[in-house]
Amino acid sequence: MNNLDFCLNRNNGYESLPYEQKITEIAAINSLLLSYGLKVTRMVESPRMIQYRAQLTPDTNTKKLLKMSENFCIALNDDSVNIFREKSELVIEKRGADNTIFMGDIVTDYFRTSVAPLTVMLGKDAEGNNVYVDLAKTPHVLVAGATGSGKSVTLNTIMASLLVRNAPVDIFTVDTKGTELCGYKNVSNVHAITDPEEAIKHLAYLCKRMDDRYAFMAKYGYRDIESVRAAGIKVNSIVVIIDEFADLMLLSGKSVEQYVVRLAQKARAAGIHLVIATQRPTRDVVTGLIKANIPTRICLKVTSGLESRIILDRNGGEKLTGHGDMLYLANGAFEPIRVQGCFISESEVEALRKALTTNIKEEPVRVEPQERKLPPQRYYEPPKSLFQKLFKK
Ligand SMILES: Nc1ncnc2c1ncn2[C@@H]1O[C@H](COP(=O)(O)OP(=O)(O)OP(=O)(O)O)[C@@H](O)[C@H]1O
Ligand SMILES: [Mg+2]
Repeated sequence: MNNLDFCLNRNNGYESLPYEQKITEIAAINSLLLSYGLKVTRMVESPRMIQYRAQLTPDTNTKKLLKMSENFCIALNDDSVNIFREKSELVIEKRGADNTIFMGDIVTDYFRTSVAPLTVMLGKDAEGNNVYVDLAKTPHVLVAGATGSGKSVTLNTIMASLLVRNAPVDIFTVDTKGTELCGYKNVSNVHAITDPEEAIKHLAYLCKRMDDRYAFMAKYGYRDIESVRAAGIKVNSIVVIIDEFADLMLLSGKSVEQYVVRLAQKARAAGIHLVIATQRPTRDVVTGLIKANIPTRICLKVTSGLESRIILDRNGGEKLTGHGDMLYLANGAFEPIRVQGCFISESEVEALRKALTTNIKEEPVRVEPQERKLPPQRYYEPPKSLFQKLFKK
């Protein structure tokens, strides 16, 4: 771990909900549970959420209870109430105190020493545990949320998690707005793309690079990028982060979808991972093919149950409260978990950028050979590799 995490803010302890409010809420819940012979037996409070838990008995009509979420919303005068069963407890989960969770709060020893280099920080769950995601296992992530719900902040925290540990990755960001993911100017392994035409070229290039990696692995008998690394060959992972995917689809049409689907289908074994965010999770943007190939989903606050179902195949996203409040469905998990996403401010991004660039010297000026000095038979434009065409203009 290098010391870049000094750039990140930290909390000195969290506020909790006022005592009187908790007492009132427990009373409101108990009056609803009374007819079932239940009452709140335990409370779990995290920096941004609170859970009231009631011990169930085998003869409780749990099905009926779980359908009462509207009643709990009314009783607690709060739209964000979520109720579910966990083992033998009924959990009534709602928004708690208004603490911001900074990235610095979850830079724990686990993160520092995690051997998986693509581990990124997501936030804290309702019980206050830190939630991390290993992009290598995800292997691609789809993020959806209404405007202001925290998509760009989530993408920025993912990027910062990779940069703060100097992970061996090349990051490509596509941000057609040009304002959201542009904080890492001059950081050598971050390639920021804002033009949709350029984005398509880069996606085509990444597909080519994926095919090249596959060809290499097939030729030398490696199963995936991990086995290439195990053989001592250094290969960077590639993380492609696309903000405002719907805009890109609208501006560039089907070709974007084709490239993204190709990458999503095959890129994991080649060490390429996608993180795609969209404001409009409609079926024409989050198409069946994209959904089928991107198993990990992050649903921030969306505007309707329909959008929530498109992302998570269930309701719930419409009840979230915004500002990084999310439902996180891990690859292979049955149920999403509620997480409060961590936050990174512009000044933290700037501090990180400075720390990453201060030691980098100006690139030496290349002196091209004089044309007349070349022998006549070699007097031709050498075929440039695709990489040179795209990056070394
Ligand atoms: N995890 C978080 N913790 C606290 N506040 C947050 C968090 N995420 C977002 N916010 C707040 O919400 C604001 C909007 O977040 P963000 O810019 O990420 O939204 P967005 O979904 O990208 O919106 P848009 O679609 O308009 O680009 C941020 O400026 C910040 O104030
Ligand atoms: Mg945004």
